[in-house]
Amino acid sequence: MKIIKTIKELKETRRGILKSIGFVPTLGGLHDGHLSLIEESLKKTDTTFVSVFLNPTQFNNKKDLETYPAQIEDDISLLKKMNVDFVFTPNYEAMYPNGYDFQIKENNFSNLMEGEKRPGHFDGVLTVVMKLLQLIKPNQCFFGEKDYQQFLLIKKMCEEFFIDSEIIPMKTIREESGLALSSRNRKLTQDSFEKASLFYRELSSGEANEKIKEKLITHGFEVDYIYDYENRKFGAVYLDEVRLIDNVEV
Ligand code: PAF
Repeated sequence: MKIIKTIKELKETRRGILKSIGFVPTLGGLHDGHLSLIEESLKKTDTTFVSVFLNPTQFNNKKDLETYPAQIEDDISLLKKMNVDFVFTPNYEAMYPNGYDFQIKENNFSNLMEGEKRPGHFDGVLTVVMKLLQLIKPNQCFFGEKDYQQFLLIKKMCEEFFIDSEIIPMKTIREESGLALSSRNRKLTQDSFEKASLFYRELSSGEANEKIKEKLITHGFEVDYIYDYENRKFGAVYLDEVRLIDNVEV
């Protein structure tokens, strides 16, 4: 496995690859959800790239960024074990040579749900994903359905900017209790971790959104939103100041 840190080296490496490329972008803090995306890329394509970049522009909350459970050494050894071909671990200056002067902005769907509650979040996500796609030019790029709004926006961005990469959604990986895997779960206390499964249970209960909200509040959650969009029910909650999101098909 080769670790690449600079844009120059990434471009040189990319030029030499003629076979199919799969790409899994991450913020680090890898868990089984990420590993399922990487396994799919290893299975479906000849060369797999993973990026580990804690992208500050998508964090509207400084504390959330500072407490994000990054663990680069553990991530690297996991990726080595999986036989990933290339890991890209740039720093901020490499990814943002002009600071944050240039941005990708979507003006419609990104204003709902996560975008409404986390101003600027999707500008940061779309901007960094666009940069990574321009550099790696993957045939296929894999995203988890836990961040379904993000997946839809990235897919639409690629259509809009005529990017050839296929954007592939992968099923959310869950704990036995139903709780969606997330790097942020590591910030939960044992008690909250157990309670967190109620979020998924209520979201998939089939009850009306107001009822779901009421029940979650009774269980001790702070509810950011419960919202229906197309054939999915989306939710975001706080438990002990840890923000959790999820969505289920209805
Ligand atoms: O889903 C994530 O982990 C991030 O939003 C992504 C796609 C890696 C962009 O930084």
